[in-house]
Order: sequence, then structure tokens, then C-alpha cells
Amino acid sequence: MSTADELARILEEAGVAFEAAGSLQDLRETRARFLGKKGTVTAALRSLGGLPADERALAGQQVNRTKGEVEALFEARKAALERSARSRDLAEHRLDVTLPGAAPPRGHLHPIARVERDMCAFFRTLGYSIEDGPEVETDFHNFGALNFPEDHPARDLQDTIFVEGGNLLRTHTSNVQIRAMTGREPPFRFVAPGRVYRHDLDATHYPMFHQIEAFCVGEDVTFAHLKGTLYAFARHLFGQDARVRFRAHFFPFTEPSAEMDVTWGEGWLEWGGCGMIHPKVLANCGIDPDRWQGFAFGMAIDRTAMLRYGIGNIRHLFDGDVRVLEQL
Ligand code: PHE
Repeated sequence: MSTADELARILEEAGVAFEAAGSLQDLRETRARFLGKKGTVTAALRSLGGLPADERALAGQQVNRTKGEVEALFEARKAALERSARSRDLAEHRLDVTLPGAAPPRGHLHPIARVERDMCAFFRTLGYSIEDGPEVETDFHNFGALNFPEDHPARDLQDTIFVEGGNLLRTHTSNVQIRAMTGREPPFRFVAPGRVYRHDLDATHYPMFHQIEAFCVGEDVTFAHLKGTLYAFARHLFGQDARVRFRAHFFPFTEPSAEMDVTWGEGWLEWGGCGMIHPKVLANCGIDPDRWQGFAFGMAIDRTAMLRYGIGNIRHLFDGDVRVLEQL
């Protein structure tokens, strides 16, 4: 057989073999049969050395051309295999970019914060400003200026938590009355929400809890204004059918004084204290009690949250158990 015939056969075989290769791995192995060390093309190249000199040049050209053609067939098949592997991959791993993403979990405000914000929003509509005060307080601002006598039981270690240096953790938000009224000229209206502290622990008491203080001073502010404001506040929080009641009470810093209850299950829950600001308290803040009068109240924020969200034990608000808080 002539070299030309031999080469034509190799080329045809290579074409068929490459087509038959089903994978890139297959194809590489097939290539070795032609172009590898022991491949037929390589063998043809080697055999050139045995030819007479006058035939060698022509035969060399023919073998080299065939080698190039086999390479080209190989490259073409390789490209085709790569293309189909790629489109199979794309088809199998289809990505639908129109699918909605996975939303990250979102938290929500603590029930106390929610109620507090709602309360402040309500009072803003009535023209009140929000006031703040310290939680570590002097005896003077928490008790003295509020007309507590030296021997008042509320100053007792039983209730008050004292800190080093003679100060204490405020037992109520009424300290803000003193701080806000001193040096201010009435008329004014303030609310002051915040944390307060007492030695106390049961289903409706916790050593730290939240109150919202409100106080309003003007020339003709009366107890009727106090009641009207508290009724409106209660209806805003607990609904139009909310039932509340006033009970006569005593506070050193208001006269007359009352406590207000809201219905809780079959009974009543003490919601907060209120009254007309005592003339001595106004005087302690540098306000003339013969000209100005006002009301004040301090309501429990935590108990409001308990009523609103149906929480039976105040601890559930502060234990920080996410399973509980997530339900609220
Ligand atoms: N400070 C009182 C308490 O904590 C509540 C109160 C506030 C009463 C304002 C009257 C006026 O119990």
C-alpha cells in the first residue's frame, strides 16, 4: 500500500474514532492511538527514516499534513464535546432568577417599647412634650422635694434600692416632675416614661418596671381635667368599652390623690396613681401655688402590656425568652 493510501486510511479511522468518543476522557485516550508515542501517525513519521532519500521529502510532507488534519479533527471533536457538556450543565442546573429570595428573619419591638411608644404618641396629640430623667437619683428628687416626710415608709430599705454614695434607684418616675418643673414657667404639660426600681417580686411585680409620668400645670387645671385625661388614655389603650375606677388614696406629693384600676379577668388591676400636685411640691420647684395648679399621674407600662397582650406573669416580659416574645 502506498504511503498516501496508508495516510488516507489513518485519517478516516481517526475521524470515525473521534466521532465515537462519548466524553473528553474517551477522546483523549483515542487521540493517543494516533498521535501518542505508539500512535499510527507517530509510527508513520518514524518510518520516513527508512525511505530512499528521493521519496522522503514528498512522504514527509504527506505525513505532516495528515498529522495536522488528525489534530484538527481532534480539536473539532473536543470543542463539540465541551459545548454539549456545557449545555447539559446549564440545563441541569437551571437557576430561576425570578424566584423570590429567602427573607432574613426579622425581629420586632419589645411589647414594653411598643406600648411606651403608643402612649407617648397619644400624649403628643394632646400637646404634651416628652421629658427624661435619671434612674440613679438623689433622695431629694425621689422623695424630699416630693413632700415625703423623713420617716415615710416608702423610704424604707424594704422598697428602695440604694446605691453607693447615698443615691438610690428611683422608685417612681415622679422625680421627673421635680427636675422638669424646677426653673420652668407654667403653663406646661409633660410625659416621662422610664424604668423604676423597687424590692418587689410576684406575678404582677418585678424589681424593675416601667412607669409613664404625666403632669400638667396651668392657672385653671382641675381634677376634672385629670379624670378626663385618664379616661381618654384608658380608652385609647384598652378600647372604648374599657372599665376603669378611681379609688381614693394617699400620696405625699398629690392632694387629693387617687389610684386607678382597670378590669383584669374577673377582678381589677391597679394601674397607677394620680392626683392634684401638692402646693408644697410646686413651691419646692419655685412655682407659686397661689397662682398655678396642676395634676399628675404615674401609670404602669408593664401592666398595660400584660393586659394588652394577655400576659399572665410580668416575668415573661423580662426573662428574654425568645419563644415567648415571638408570640407577642
Ligand atoms: N409615683 C406614684 C407611684 O409610683 C404614682 C403617682 C404619680 C401618683 C403621680 C400621683 C401622681 O406609685
